[in-house]
Amino acid sequence: MSVGIDEISFYTSGQYLDLKTLAEHQGIDSNKYYDGIGQEKMAMAAVDEDVVTLAANAALPIVERVGRDSIAAVLFATETGIDQSKAAGVYVHRLLELNSNCRVVELKQACYSATAAIQMACALVARQPARPILVIASDVARYDLDSPGEATQGCGAVAMLISANPRVLAIDPEVGNHTEDVMDFWRPNYRTNALVDGKYSTKIYLKSLKRSWENFREQSSVDYADIDYFCYHLPFGKMAQKAHSQLARVNKSGQTAEQLEQQIEPTLQYNRLIGNSYTASMYIGLCSLLENSSENLAGKRVGLFSYGSGCVAEFFTGQIQADYAEALNADRHQALLRERTELSYDEYIKLYHYPNPTDGGEHILAEQTQGAFRLAAICDHKREYVAR
Ligand code: CAA
Repeated sequence: MSVGIDEISFYTSGQYLDLKTLAEHQGIDSNKYYDGIGQEKMAMAAVDEDVVTLAANAALPIVERVGRDSIAAVLFATETGIDQSKAAGVYVHRLLELNSNCRVVELKQACYSATAAIQMACALVARQPARPILVIASDVARYDLDSPGEATQGCGAVAMLISANPRVLAIDPEVGNHTEDVMDFWRPNYRTNALVDGKYSTKIYLKSLKRSWENFREQSSVDYADIDYFCYHLPFGKMAQKAHSQLARVNKSGQTAEQLEQQIEPTLQYNRLIGNSYTASMYIGLCSLLENSSENLAGKRVGLFSYGSGCVAEFFTGQIQADYAEALNADRHQALLRERTELSYDEYIKLYHYPNPTDGGEHILAEQTQGAFRLAAICDHKREYVAR
């Protein structure tokens, strides 16, 4: 019996800032963002959107297909959680009207935790194959204005159904890990924006890739040449190019630049338009590969490198299944990205500074989102979510 991803669905905000607009405001060449970091647009959460509403919107099509009673657990991965105690997934559980016997928990380790959730879900499904698990990764990436990280913001959520004999990707059991206590990117409890040592974080990312790969090779018989496509964690598109060049070098692959590009390019397309979505980022990249590749991917092996600052990293592989194309949500994803509204610089700043009330008063939020769920109010320190 194989175990893995049976369906994958993502959601992002309906509004974005073109990085050309940011570059114009900063008086710099927009190619720094378009080519230098490999990003074009960044999604900005509406005032009535957060990790809960993004997550519920991502998961809705899966739940509608499989039924509200068939999901055994929701594992919710985020590093921009909205409560220190209550799991964001519990709100999602209510919005999606899941069965009260469904277990819900939140996981955190920067951008890595969705991968931990998937591995845990695979282990649970291996024990009870008839009980699929919903893994949701959801984040709103925010950095200080005028910091180097500003152009790498974004937001999004991805929902994946983990089941026995999956239709999309069978995940191989062998993995390679690297864990190390470093301060490359972090967000103390009293801050809404992340702190980051940008250049150092890219170095640690690359070091973690090398170490995870070495550990993977000790555990698995799958070699570099057995892998057709590579999905890397995508804080920005150019990071994947740096990572893939390094992995090819480590393996003395002898590939041309064009051959290397072909192995990652389809994974970058959606993220280029969405920006960083932390935990969701690599899996939106996987979705991009499945939905944008020009070749039939049935039987192809994918290598995935998941990186969470701080840091924990994992390299693992999976095999794309024969009828994967029938299980995709490509039309919905592409319409979602096509139908978004572009923000002016002033609208972006207004949204960026939208108050995050902490006084326990009654705060009714403007209706902005186009999604099926919204954060309607924050009253008496309680977040009130509704279906639209
Ligand atoms: N045309 C084309 N390219 C240009 C250019 C132009 N006009 N101007 C500059 N560039 C290129 C530069 O040459 C550089 O390319 P290389 O990296 O290949 O050398 C690139 O654009 C970036 O420019 P800078 O070197 O000036 O870098 P920066 O000061 O803009 O910062 C960054 C880049 C450090 C990534 C910054 O965006 C940042 O701090 N981002 C947040 C942190 C981050 O994403 N870290 C990634 C690893 S950590 C992680 O993965 C977890 C996570 O999700 C955060």
